[in-house]
Formats: sequence, structure tokens, C-alpha cells
Amino acid sequence: MKIAVLPGDGIGTEIVDEAVKVLKVLDLKFEMETADVGGVAYDRHGHPLPEATLKLAKEADAVLFGAVGDWKYDQLERKFRPEQAILGLRKNLGLFANFRPAICYEQLTHASSLKPELVAGLDILIIRELTGDIYFGQPRGRRTSPDGNFPGAEEAFDTMRYARPEIERIAHVAFQAARKRNKKVTSVDKANVLETFQFWKDVVTEVGQQYPDVKLDHMYVDNAAMQLVKSPKSFDVVVTGNMFGDILSDEAAMLTGSIGMLPSASLNASNQGLYEPSHGSAPDIAGKGIANPLATILSAAMMLRFSLNQPQAADRIESAVKDVLSQGLRTADIWSEGTRKVGTREMGDAVVAAITTKTITKS
Ligand code: IPM
Ligand code: MG
Repeated sequence: MKIAVLPGDGIGTEIVDEAVKVLKVLDLKFEMETADVGGVAYDRHGHPLPEATLKLAKEADAVLFGAVGDWKYDQLERKFRPEQAILGLRKNLGLFANFRPAICYEQLTHASSLKPELVAGLDILIIRELTGDIYFGQPRGRRTSPDGNFPGAEEAFDTMRYARPEIERIAHVAFQAARKRNKKVTSVDKANVLETFQFWKDVVTEVGQQYPDVKLDHMYVDNAAMQLVKSPKSFDVVVTGNMFGDILSDEAAMLTGSIGMLPSASLNASNQGLYEPSHGSAPDIAGKGIANPLATILSAAMMLRFSLNQPQAADRIESAVKDVLSQGLRTADIWSEGTRKVGTREMGDAVVAAITTKTITKS
């Protein structure tokens, strides 16, 4: 099993270090190789996604990714910005299926900005299409407007588009995921306004006929944004396009109290995957040793389950994370009165300890 380790920028290195530490105590044979990505890669090699990094990622069974981005690169030409690294990896590896679970841990119910009873026990899964939509649609660019409200004015444009197979495959992913959960899929669209999303809705409905055991409903994206804060527990699996999924997954993340807890997986058709925390590079706290490594550690668990076929090892990590929360350990982002504030490294060490103690008790 080969894992490409791409820590990236900001807190990326700190949090990925902890996940690697956790992977190493599992007694599994991995080959791990680290490479530069994002702003650091631009600084060192002149490109946010250097050829060597892309090659390593393509050859690996899985990619463990930290985060990319820093304000200091905002002035660069778009193709050199750190975000292009993650977009390039998604496109080049064909990682079309993005899983973003939003789980509210019992111990963190009070960290949510919503009333505890609304989020207690929350466990929803957002499945975001990741290689199509307005993110990648061509043509795009700037030009002199040929028509529209201001002919002759300078304008910019992007293209929202989805091809039938792109919708079909993500719909299958969603229905299959729902089968393993509460058998309900909510497809989010904007069919009342956009041709692309009327088509999306039609195709998802067709695919749904192959899954009579899964309940399918459709929701407009504005309503979905509202329902997510009104009654989040009414959702099970949410499937949507790249753009809406970007927005709704941040919203869903916050329901759980901390984006610092949420892992994500991006898979291609052969189950090769990229695993990263749902949060960003947090340059404001980089290097301070206070970032929450749990989202990355949980991403490593997803990697074991989805790409490396090691579900038991994944379970061990997930139960260790619950153990450390039960012990009252909290990084600053999830800290509250009466719990113990710890740093990044201490949190990683505690997860390692929880895994190894359990191993000893078992044998
Ligand atoms: C995410 C991020 C990315 C996206 C950015 C960094 C390009 O917001 O993974 O949700 O928009 O997809
Ligand atoms: Mg986002």
C-alpha cells in the first residue's frame, strides 16, 4: 500500500504529522512518501502542483492531504495559486465523488451554534460532485461583452454544465451510500431556474428507479440551506453539484460545532482517493501547535476504509478519537469550560495512546 503524503501550507504540516503518527502505530505495512504541494510547492518549485507531486499522487493507492493556501499568494496569477493544486489533483486523478460527513459528536453537542437538541446525534453525509459544474466548465474567461445588459462592456463568465454520465455516476455513489445508512437521498438542485439542474434532477430521478429501497427527494438549494439549520437531522445523504456542495458542506460542517473535526474523502472510479480535512490551511494559527488534528486523523481512517481496505484499522482510529473526547481533551477550537485544553501534538499523542492501550487490553 502506497500513500502519498502532501501536507501543503499553513497548519497542513502540523496536522498531517499527527495523522502519520497515528497510521504508524497500526502495525500495517505502508509505504509513505511526502511531497510539496500548494504555496510551499510554488515557493520551492515554481508551481503549486509540481510534476513530481502529481506523479507520486497518481502512483499511490491513496493521498493524505493537509491543506493549501495563504493570503500571501492572493496576488499571483490564478494558475500559480495554491488552490490550483487541489483542483488539479481532483481533475487529474478523476476524483469525482466527494464524501463530506457531518457528524456531531455527543461530547461536542454544546459546541454547535445551534440548539443542542437540533444537532445531538446528527449524522449526515454530503456527497458533492467534484470534477464538473461551473468549477471546471469551459468556456470561461474575460472579454468584451457581445450582448447582454451592457454590450461592449468588460465582462467575465464561467460555464455551468453537466453531462449525463457525470450525473449518473455521482447519483449511483449517493444511492449506494444511502443503502448502507438510513436509505434516504436528498438531491439538491436549482431546477426552478437552471437548465443544468433541471437535467440533474431528471437524471438523478432516473437513476433512483434502480434503487427502489432508497427514498429520494429533491430540494432547491436555497431551501436546503435553510433546512440544514432548521432541521438538520431530517437529512441522511445529500447529493449535489460541485458549487452547491462546496457551500452546503461548509454550512453542514458548522452544525457540528467545529470544522476541525470533519474529515473528507474524494474518490475516483477505481477507489483511489484523496483524503483531507474539511477545513483549510488556517494561516493565522500556523506554526503555533494549536490546530485540531482530529479531522486529518479521521481522514486517515476514511482512507483505510475506502481505499486501503482496512476497515478494522479505521474503526480503531475512530473509536480512539471518541475516547480522547470522552477523556475531556480538547484543542482550542472545541474547548469549553470544564475540559482540558491541549495542543496539536498532545492530541495526536492521546489518540496514539488510546489505540495502543486498547490493543494491549485486547491481547
Ligand atoms: C473545498 C475548498 C476548495 C473548493 C477550494 C480551496 C478550491 O473550498 O474543498 O471545499 O472550492 O472546492
Ligand atoms: Mg469549500
